[in-house]
Amino acid sequence: MYLTPEEEKTLEGEYGPSLQKAIEILVALGDIYGADRLIPVKSAQIAGVSYKTMGDAGLEWISDLEGKVKIPSILNPAGMDINKWEEMGIDPAFAKKQQEIIEAYAKLGIQTKCTCTPYYLEGFDVKLDDHIAWSESSAVSYANSVIGARTNREGGPSALSAALVGKTANYGYHLDEMREPVVTVEVDCELSGSDYGALGYVVGKTVGSRVPIFYMKNEPSRNEMKSLGAALAASGAVALYHIEGVTPEAVRNRFAKPDERIPVERAQIDEVYETNKDILSSEIITVGCPHCSPEELEEIAELVAGKKLQKEMWVCTAREVAERYPDLVERIEKSGAKVVCDTCMVVSPATNKYSSITVNSGKALAYVPSMCKVAAKYASIEDCIKEAGVIDES
Ligand code: F3S
Repeated sequence: MYLTPEEEKTLEGEYGPSLQKAIEILVALGDIYGADRLIPVKSAQIAGVSYKTMGDAGLEWISDLEGKVKIPSILNPAGMDINKWEEMGIDPAFAKKQQEIIEAYAKLGIQTKCTCTPYYLEGFDVKLDDHIAWSESSAVSYANSVIGARTNREGGPSALSAALVGKTANYGYHLDEMREPVVTVEVDCELSGSDYGALGYVVGKTVGSRVPIFYMKNEPSRNEMKSLGAALAASGAVALYHIEGVTPEAVRNRFAKPDERIPVERAQIDEVYETNKDILSSEIITVGCPHCSPEELEEIAELVAGKKLQKEMWVCTAREVAERYPDLVERIEKSGAKVVCDTCMVVSPATNKYSSITVNSGKALAYVPSMCKVAAKYASIEDCIKEAGVIDES
């Protein structure tokens, strides 16, 4: 792999051990995947934030690093809402460790906004063909597919290395040829809302890590594509998908239709809503996986208007989005639901104390049972709110 004289010096340790380690990781990945060089990236998003998944070894590794990131860099959700952790029932010992992790990242110049939707935040508005180094799988999918930016599905250490060096190795989804669809998914029915999360949940299992192109009966919104991509990345390992006539590269490149076909029928989507249907009434309802957009907060605020919820309900979103729309937060919380920031139902240990959960996310449906050992049921946003047990006060 070609390195510039400056990169060679970094590799030799001239700029300190942390940068040396970082470029070593990038070069090692580049060598494994056949990259020709390092390329500049516009921003980084770093996974490996929740103390639940990192533990003490991860905290120690980050604490030992020195220097400052060279590009706008941001964190994935942590294990708790930084302000409301007590309300979530988080153990103080966990909270202390979580704060230490966040402070260690802050020391490196990383913005401590913990979200899987950096594309809603100022400074992270990537565009078609931009190169970035993001790591949370739904953010990767959204950036690659809905925006047409270019990122591999980075691990925590490789995203952090890219942030420190300001570059990544030029392989995988940074290259035109890796972005071509190889399998066609033909959806034979019209879909709306949470049907897209269900579609991703179904198709991800078959597609694995390949690049699919969808042929749809109707055009999904950006929020619906966000749900589709998150579920595809969780039940499979899809980092990039296209939708014929909709997503930017499918429109620009007019890809040939791959021969391998996967048909999807309405019955398969309906089956996802049947998962764990024996849970007649779950203990908690969580929405906002991936974190809610302003439009999704608005939709929830309208649905809960004049109602009092009887059960615990979390509406997860990025803190910056919540702070931009205090009126929406107020309207949602008036119903008794909690707007939860910096974290989510999968990465927070607060979920583990429940035995059953209702979600409107294919990604949460795939991960909550394995990562939290909680039985999960799938529902539309309207049914999630019904499940929360509504008293109409209007
Ligand atoms: Fe985001 Fe957590 Fe879902 S990180 S995509 S809300 S599992």
